[in-house]
Amino acid sequence: MNILILGSGGREYSIGLAISKEKQEHNIFFMPGNGATSDLGTNINIKDYNKLALWAKENNIELTIVGPEAPLVDGVVDIFKENNLTVFGPSSAAAQLEGSKVYMKNILKKYNIPTAAFIETTNEKEAYDFIDNMTVPIVVKADGLCAGKGVIIAQSKDEAKQAASDMLSGSSFGEAGTSIVVEEFLDGYELSIFAICDGENYKVLPAAQDHKRVGNGDTGPNTGGMGAYAPTPLVNDDIYKKVEERVIKPTLDGMKKEGAPFEGVLFIGVMVVNNEPIILEYNVRFGDPECEILMPLLETPVSELFYKGATKQLDKLEIKIKDEFGVAVVMASANYPYSSSEPAEIIVDEIVDEDILNNTHISYAGVSKEDGKLFATGGRVLLCVGFGNSIKEARDRAYALCGQVHFAGKKIRTDIAYQALK
Ligand SMILES: Nc1ncnc2c1ncn2[C@@H]1O[C@H](COP(=O)(O)OP(=O)(O)O)[C@@H](O)[C@H]1O
Ligand SMILES: [Mg+2]
Repeated sequence: MNILILGSGGREYSIGLAISKEKQEHNIFFMPGNGATSDLGTNINIKDYNKLALWAKENNIELTIVGPEAPLVDGVVDIFKENNLTVFGPSSAAAQLEGSKVYMKNILKKYNIPTAAFIETTNEKEAYDFIDNMTVPIVVKADGLCAGKGVIIAQSKDEAKQAASDMLSGSSFGEAGTSIVVEEFLDGYELSIFAICDGENYKVLPAAQDHKRVGNGDTGPNTGGMGAYAPTPLVNDDIYKKVEERVIKPTLDGMKKEGAPFEGVLFIGVMVVNNEPIILEYNVRFGDPECEILMPLLETPVSELFYKGATKQLDKLEIKIKDEFGVAVVMASANYPYSSSEPAEIIVDEIVDEDILNNTHISYAGVSKEDGKLFATGGRVLLCVGFGNSIKEARDRAYALCGQVHFAGKKIRTDIAYQALK
């Protein structure tokens, strides 16, 4: 097939890498891709979605896969569908599940899906009254997309009110904060569960855990994610079953009733409290770094999974997952997540250990290529991904690979998957 992948991160690289390893040969295009995706296919640069759709038609693109949330919320899927192209991802209407926390919470409430008690409001007084009746900590969330920075967990009522006022006035997040959600704090452990959806049918992938904070032991500021592992032993059949029955099915039914059937990747942010899965939020695309381990864990060809997802045929697919564990360690540049760093050349040692060679790979993210050399240019530069018959084996291999990859200022967390190994 001719396949177009939208995005430029490690997530999109890992989708391309998995497709390039399939038995069937494919031509892969990335828009815009990064300095390493050009080794898997062809990078193109057409930013306007209407022009991109025309290009896709002219070049007989048979499947388009959208990585990040912004183009989904902006309606790239709608434009591709108007052009009779096959595209895997939600419409802009369905992408509101991520684009608006108010919309998402109202859907959860309307269809009786378990979530933290909340109010949504645009009014300061209403927010204050609600806060006055809560116990701390109190969670305050901006409605719109805030690149992972729009959630404040306040330790006092005053802090919660301040956060609410700063959001509502527009001073924290501009327009994205002029509606807010105030909700109760859930005390439990977090999971990422991904369902591949075609509007009616779905396939659930192994649950993963991300590591959001920059420092070991979950310290320091939030990042895009410093590492992930899957499947996590913190999930069991009971939790999967509850998530399917109480969350995925009612959401797909509900979105159909809303006139916005959900096609694409439903990323379910779950807090498990006393063995009960409570929904923190939805995202409408893969998590990055979770994608980088889930793609290689799939035995089912990724292109087939997404194609069937895009053409309402998931009921005809039996999904197969490898009986292995995956661990991904993000290698970031020195100043991440505070500021950018000088470009630095990336050197990968020749890997002689067969065990490492056969059970690891690199997923490239913030890199550029000049004169055939790779340079670290972006916050999260690359991921060292390891596989094995246990989480420990997978982790040890991922870290062994980390030791073979060099660039000035490289920074990693050394405790990825600690939750599963304690
Ligand atoms: N109600 C809550 N109780 C406890 N922790 C929460 C709650 N809501 C969010 N969080 C924490 O804040 C993080 C970010 O919140 P989330 O709703 O996922 O927003 P976003 O990913 O858009 O920033 C979550 O991953 C979780 O760790
Ligand atoms: Mg989140």
